[in-house]
Amino acid sequence: MSADARARAAVTEELARLGFDVPEAAYGQDLIGLGVNSVALVQVLSALEDRYDADLDMDGLFAAPLTVERIAAQLAAVGPPGTAPGAPAPGASEPAAPPHVPRHEPNVRSPVSDTAGYPHLTASGMGALLPWEPGDTLEAAGPRIRRAAMDSGCALMRGLTLDEEQFKLLVRSLGTTVDHRFGEGQADLLKLNASREEGKVVTGRGPLPLHTDGLLVGERVDLIILYAAEFSDAPGSGETFVCDQLAAWREMPEALRRVIEERELEYLVTERGYFPTVPESWYTIPTTRDYGRVRSLNLTTAFPPGVLRSWDVRVKGMDGAASERFFAELDAFLHAPRYAYTHRWEVGDLLVIDNQRTLHGRTAISPGGTRVLYRGQLTLAQPA
Ligand SMILES: [Fe+2]
Repeated sequence: MSADARARAAVTEELARLGFDVPEAAYGQDLIGLGVNSVALVQVLSALEDRYDADLDMDGLFAAPLTVERIAAQLAAVGPPGTAPGAPAPGASEPAAPPHVPRHEPNVRSPVSDTAGYPHLTASGMGALLPWEPGDTLEAAGPRIRRAAMDSGCALMRGLTLDEEQFKLLVRSLGTTVDHRFGEGQADLLKLNASREEGKVVTGRGPLPLHTDGLLVGERVDLIILYAAEFSDAPGSGETFVCDQLAAWREMPEALRRVIEERELEYLVTERGYFPTVPESWYTIPTTRDYGRVRSLNLTTAFPPGVLRSWDVRVKGMDGAASERFFAELDAFLHAPRYAYTHRWEVGDLLVIDNQRTLHGRTAISPGGTRVLYRGQLTLAQPA
């Protein structure tokens, strides 16, 4: 096998380990465009650096769209594992390389970074992947996570070990818990446990369309804190979407924007056990909100056909088919990889979401999947 072919195989193997199968015909295509998120890319590059025991030219790589071909070309240039330029030739008496120190994702640079230097999660510039520093404490990490979430829309930290009490302490250290009007759980801890109980939607196993928390109950929620206590599910199942709604709104096609800005959306809540205090018939909710920090979209998209719904939504006064078409188009636009980060959970992941700057949703949990997320909801002090 040639060095080029070996390098392409190494790249596709590392992508496949994260669940991304890239066919040969797509080796020249932008990986982000193929649905590989930037966190996964950073993991793949880090693993390849470990495998080849070499430093890749990240600035050069990220100067143009990342493709299998471009990554493989860099790898081939540094040589097969163990024979990087500068290393003694195989068979030489000197040891080939110093003891290998594995790198971890936070040490790898990213295509787009905010001032703190954290890798972003979408091409639109949303999100931040924060390292858990050696010797870190929750007290020290908490403010860092909150700042990163509020600056970028969403902060991800991986590899934490939190029990329920520690999770609640972390939530309370980040802000004021929401004055709660939901029928289940508390603001500092609700278990999204993929319940098999009949009629459960939010805490059940089906998909949830993109939405903003607190919308249906008229409650201001600034931060959502999610922690994966248990997770074991097939690729594509039980994943969380976070959408950079501010960028999406700015760049939205006129036909969608006009409906949002000129029409009204109305809702019918069907999961009464979870939302016991809302009106029992259709009611209108303003499509935008501004609590003094940012003006943003205040809406949900629609549940897909054939699944148990927690609520229905429609454009007030619009023909039913046209309304459905609008929500399908809006949903597809908001899920574009440019704006939507798809998070494949691992136990120990902590995701802090700015609920004013993003929308979020999830894919269905698979029949055999286990998914227990702890969720907290916070409001922040009003800006002065
Ligand atoms: Fe939610």
